[in-house]
Amino acid sequence: MADYRIAVIAGDGIGPEVMDEALKVLCEAEQEEGFSLEIQAFPWNSEYYLEHGRMMPEDGLDTLQTFDAILFGAIGDARVPDEVTIWELIMPIRKGFRQYVNFRPVKSLPGIPSLLANGEDIDFVIFRENAEGEYSDSGGRLYAGQEGEIAIQNTIMTRTGVERITRAACRYAEEHGLGKVTSATKSNAVIHANKLWDEHVRRIVEEEFGGLQFEQYYVDALAAYFVQRPQSFDVVLASNLFGDILSDLGSGLVGGLGLSPSGNINPEKDYPSMFEPVHGSAPDIAGQGIANPIAQIWSAALMLEHLGEKRAAGRIVKAIEDVLAEGKVKTRDIGGTATTREMGSAIGEAFKNQTTKATEG
Ligand code: NAI
Ligand code: MG
Repeated sequence: MADYRIAVIAGDGIGPEVMDEALKVLCEAEQEEGFSLEIQAFPWNSEYYLEHGRMMPEDGLDTLQTFDAILFGAIGDARVPDEVTIWELIMPIRKGFRQYVNFRPVKSLPGIPSLLANGEDIDFVIFRENAEGEYSDSGGRLYAGQEGEIAIQNTIMTRTGVERITRAACRYAEEHGLGKVTSATKSNAVIHANKLWDEHVRRIVEEEFGGLQFEQYYVDALAAYFVQRPQSFDVVLASNLFGDILSDLGSGLVGGLGLSPSGNINPEKDYPSMFEPVHGSAPDIAGQGIANPIAQIWSAALMLEHLGEKRAAGRIVKAIEDVLAEGKVKTRDIGGTATTREMGSAIGEAFKNQTTKATEG
């Protein structure tokens, strides 16, 4: 029996292209680090929807629940509305499996110049609330199509939801020796939901994590600080919407979407967690074999870390850094001409070379 059973959903567009490379690197890791993976691929994407009228089978979540983790590519296709692909595949997994932490590292990489003049040595993580908040399907539309039409969209903030994401962020800070937690809010304008956020974030930090430094900013100001002094952050804690926007901004600070991984995590491990690049299906470059697979490969490393294979995870990240530092193999988004496959192979080689070097040394 394999040590870990992994469900793979490659999805649409560049999803399958970058997933192939991540699987290649996982295979190297498995061989060298002495654990075994049983990988099962699921064809749940827009093509599947056009054929079956749904994004996944009715018992899709039951099937996924038997796995240790899910590795996800990206979803989105012009023939299917985005709200269908997102709300019938990604959201049911995130919400159904209580993946209430969306974890997104923002880290400078060697050989990748930041667009910022002061963009060196950026290294922080974003903990985005992933199960409630502004991304809720509570609401509706009245008088649709008439002159007086109304839309109501409700934000759901619960004390439990705020407490658990705060604890997850603070625990991570403690475990990784990071001194400071920064909360994003907008309680001056969004006075009900965000005041609840502020009160319980602050209470949990003060009552349970007294050793951490805590600060809170309005999210608009915080966006400016991301640009002006990105080095001053350790752990940024944000609601679903704010975290989504801040993490794409973070990704832009360190080289773009092709390099940014994420984890949708159920910290209690009651359900499988899901790891995916921050980017989408990139229809503008899909089918050309030129997408950068690093975000997907790094997401696979986050998955291994979550499963407890910390050394393998660290080695994959190091292999990515080694390839970028050398600068010979670069995909188009980071200023080169390499293909998706060439980048994946280079990272696989760099991974193997680490053992050779270690044995030689
Ligand atoms: P996108 O992330 O797919 O693309 C934005 C830009 O970044 C494009 O110019 C694309 O070529 C570039 N890009 C993205 N990933 C890249 C990579 N690995 N290498 C090189 N360049 C890369 O976002 P967009 O265009 O807003 O959305 C396209 C589709 O993806 C939509 O259907 C959207 O709903 C979906 N989407 C899905 C997500 C998911 O599966 N979790 C997340 C975000 C968007
Ligand atoms: Mg996003």
